[in-house]
Amino acid sequence: MSLHIGSIAPDFEQDSTEGRIRFHEWLGTSWGVLFSHPKDFTPVCTTELGRVANLTAEFKRRNVKVLAVSVDSVDSHREWAKDIEETQDCELDYPILGDSDRKIANLYDMIHPEANDTLTVRSVFFIDPNKKIRALITYPASTGRNFQEILRVIDSLQLTDSHKVATPADWKSGDDVVIAPAIQDEAELARRFPKGYRAVRPYLRLTPAPDR
Ligand code: BEZ
Repeated sequence: MSLHIGSIAPDFEQDSTEGRIRFHEWLGTSWGVLFSHPKDFTPVCTTELGRVANLTAEFKRRNVKVLAVSVDSVDSHREWAKDIEETQDCELDYPILGDSDRKIANLYDMIHPEANDTLTVRSVFFIDPNKKIRALITYPASTGRNFQEILRVIDSLQLTDSHKVATPADWKSGDDVVIAPAIQDEAELARRFPKGYRAVRPYLRLTPAPDR
């Protein structure tokens, strides 16, 4: 299945290191980040899972549940988890889905046969509380992901959901944002952006962070 921004994240039921997961039910009213790993006991994945474990407070603060998947069994994940905790100085406090049957990998199109026909690439799916896919990123197995960027994307999605703004290049939470070009009425601009705005061009208008 080909998944895009705006698709409903496919539901599934699968075993994990924290028991059976019914995905949509497990997400509840939270946002979700589902991220794939090519294989257990591999170096880059080990650092990534440790990094996420050290950032779980940041994900929780944003009402995001994180869920990893790797194409090996839950028993293998449990053995690997000991190594991750020991080498990355962390406590793995989120589930890793078993996927020996490649059910999740296939459902989410995480295997790119031109790269490798059995292992997944590094996919990340950002899922909102309505179970809609709001962003996806894909890296090759050789490139570890930047999880600060993943938090930054969540910050942008959550901010732009609640204000008529967009976030410019290299934006970080707290920086100025861009006013949606559709808003032209001065009274509406004054109401929505009481801190004022700066028009660099008529189509490029910046306003201070509306959530601060
Ligand atoms: C890794 O996680 O280190 C890795 C996995 C598969 C291919 C290359 C690297």
